[in-house]
Amino acid sequence: MSGSTVRRNAQKIIDGKYSGPDPLLEEFKTMIYERLEELQLPPGKIQLSPELDPIDCTNDDFDFIEKLGEGSFGEVHKVKHIPTGNLMAIKYQTIVFDPHSDEAREYWTRQKIYDRLIREITAFRKAFVSKFTNFIPSYYGMLILEKSVAFCIEVLDLTAENLYHCHKNKKRDAIITNDNNESLHFEEKPLAIVAISILKAMLHLRNLKAMHRDIKPRNILLNFNGDVKLCDLGLVVFLEDSAAISIQSGSKLYLAPEILRGDFVTEYRVKSDVWSLGITLLEMARFRYPFNTDVLEKDLLFQIIAKPVPILNENDGYNEEMTHFINQCLIKDPKQRPHITELEMLELATKFSDINFNRNLMKDFISNNVER
Ligand SMILES: Nc1ncnc2c1ncn2[C@@H]1O[C@H](COP(=O)(O)OP(=O)(O)O)[C@@H](O)[C@H]1O
Ligand SMILES: [Mg+2]
Repeated sequence: MSGSTVRRNAQKIIDGKYSGPDPLLEEFKTMIYERLEELQLPPGKIQLSPELDPIDCTNDDFDFIEKLGEGSFGEVHKVKHIPTGNLMAIKYQTIVFDPHSDEAREYWTRQKIYDRLIREITAFRKAFVSKFTNFIPSYYGMLILEKSVAFCIEVLDLTAENLYHCHKNKKRDAIITNDNNESLHFEEKPLAIVAISILKAMLHLRNLKAMHRDIKPRNILLNFNGDVKLCDLGLVVFLEDSAAISIQSGSKLYLAPEILRGDFVTEYRVKSDVWSLGITLLEMARFRYPFNTDVLEKDLLFQIIAKPVPILNENDGYNEEMTHFINQCLIKDPKQRPHITELEMLELATKFSDINFNRNLMKDFISNNVER
């Protein structure tokens, strides 16, 4: 279908005068095929590691094990891939909407959803083939189903949000039982490992000339082996794509003040991920989101933009390296805030650079805090 036909049909949809196949959906499917051809993995094939040949795959190849989470446009399931016996996560995302739903009526909403899916596939696939990384879940491939697409991804066990809730409860119980007055905060070393692992994931994306734009505790996954990974690449932008870069998105709670104000300078745009990392770590450190959320959204956003930054201090119970790392991320002025390559130079990052050490420490920490 040509671009002008698509646009004409789109206008008819907006005017309620169209009943044929959804032109946007057709365009989206064509784009997926083109993009995946470019990335050398057609829909309906999965590749379990960069060294292995892709194999054919259908939705019938999976045994459902459990539901892992709720995505914005579908569920995430843990499944077993019967032919190989591998466990995986499948992220289903609706692409055909009920004609009476808001998504179906709103041309721009659907376009945003399709856009997001194309970016997510591209980012996952590029991260997977470019250079093996321990900090972004492996991406195996995708299927186009009747009403949805399914992304097959490495499965992990819990989110950083789950982890800090478990840890908080455990600490609270210990404090009550032992009647001590230890301050209630996330243990230092595992928090440092989360910080450094997510920094490594950000550096990997940067090598692909991309930024994440949705860093928050729910988009950080961990497993019982002690791995920490940054998931949900739905809002990734590639930096050469200068049109996409100005679009504001991601959970507002973690967006940098300059993005919320809308007056960012493109040169510093990449630093907004650094702010989101800072808020994420501060939330984990204190076991709660650092701003008051019991207010209207506009007041919450005003707090982020105009109130002094909630920095870590000596009462939080952390050493100088951790305090410095988090507070550097939370420098309000993006010009002064460090780049991710500068964060890598900080003492916390050099101290926790041994991946095996980190994994072992995190493995023990998770097994002591989370019930299987
Ligand atoms: N690979 C995975 N392994 C385990 N759980 C996952 C995985 N991917 C996603 N989840 C769970 O599903 C939730 C939603 O997935 P996500 O990719 O963040 O979707 P959305 O873009 O809609 O936020 C996550 O917060 C997490 O709880
Ligand atoms: Mg998410």
